[in-house]
Amino acid sequence: MAAFHPLRIARREQLTDDAVALTLQVPGDLAERFRYAAGQHLTIRHHDASGAELRRTYSVCAPPPRGGPVRELTIGVRHIPGGAFSGHAVQDLAEGDTLQVLPPAGGFTLREDGPGGGHAVAITGGSGITPVLAMAAAALDRDPAARFTLLRSERTAAAAMFLEAAADLKDRHPGRLQLLYALTREERHTGPATGRLDSARLRTLLPALVPVVEVTDWYLCGPLGLIEAARTALGALGVARTRVHAELFHAGTEAGAPPPPAPVPHAPGARLTATLGGQTATWQPRPGETVLETTLRNRPDAPYACKGGVCGTCRARLLHGEVRMARTYALEEDELAAGYILPCQSHPATAAVEVDYDT
Ligand code: FES
Repeated sequence: MAAFHPLRIARREQLTDDAVALTLQVPGDLAERFRYAAGQHLTIRHHDASGAELRRTYSVCAPPPRGGPVRELTIGVRHIPGGAFSGHAVQDLAEGDTLQVLPPAGGFTLREDGPGGGHAVAITGGSGITPVLAMAAAALDRDPAARFTLLRSERTAAAAMFLEAAADLKDRHPGRLQLLYALTREERHTGPATGRLDSARLRTLLPALVPVVEVTDWYLCGPLGLIEAARTALGALGVARTRVHAELFHAGTEAGAPPPPAPVPHAPGARLTATLGGQTATWQPRPGETVLETTLRNRPDAPYACKGGVCGTCRARLLHGEVRMARTYALEEDELAAGYILPCQSHPATAAVEVDYDT
């Protein structure tokens, strides 16, 4: 079940003019609940000045401890103009303050199926570095033969979050981490030339940086434009889609983002059956409601954060019936094939729909 826990801010570090790292202390009795895999995120609940509840997800930037309990979690928060929580976090939050936090979740994690000694590549934009930093550290720490290439798209070097942490990781693993910055608004004398990483550029650049056919997995994290450009380039380079894993940041306002799903005609007498926290119940959806909205009306403890198809916090498995979804950014193809849905994006398309939030 989606239970929030109060976690104290043990450390606050200014990363850039508009971004901070917050390290949250995990009490001993919650260490097991807050176990995580590199790449996963936390959902934070916050009430704004008007009392409205906001939920935001932030990836953990460091790999989980090897063999020991989780004692702390560090997230990076960049102030998004107009962002009610990010503005508060960057300007107001201080050491000793407490945040309401859901345990880690999310499927954007390292693939474990390689034979060892693999070479993974990540392409990130802006705060997309946060989960990838944890994944790169975990991959290099766990396998002394592993290699990792990290291509970061940033506006300027000064705007890049976790600049020092990435450099430290490179120093800890000499010759195994290749770190490149593609700056969109600043000239540099080394690395890729200034400019946006569009698909044509990536198609030329990637084979010059890495042996594309030998790369075991590709991790993409950033805004929609970058992820789509990278997917297009990798497809043109012959990379299998199953080797490409992506996590999107901020889908809502970007050009090219599909609109929210149009409600499908409401079937009179329709029923939604949901299992959550081991309890199963059946309810009658109201016209136009998503599966998540019907669930929340009856079970306010149902998990969710973005309600935009991006974070995957609401993920559930469809056991019976059909739903119609527009945005499925947070699901990989194998998850879709296995019947996973995003209830915040799903409208019932059959009279009876059954979902399981516990799988
Ligand atoms: S709440 Fe974020 S994907 Fe549904």
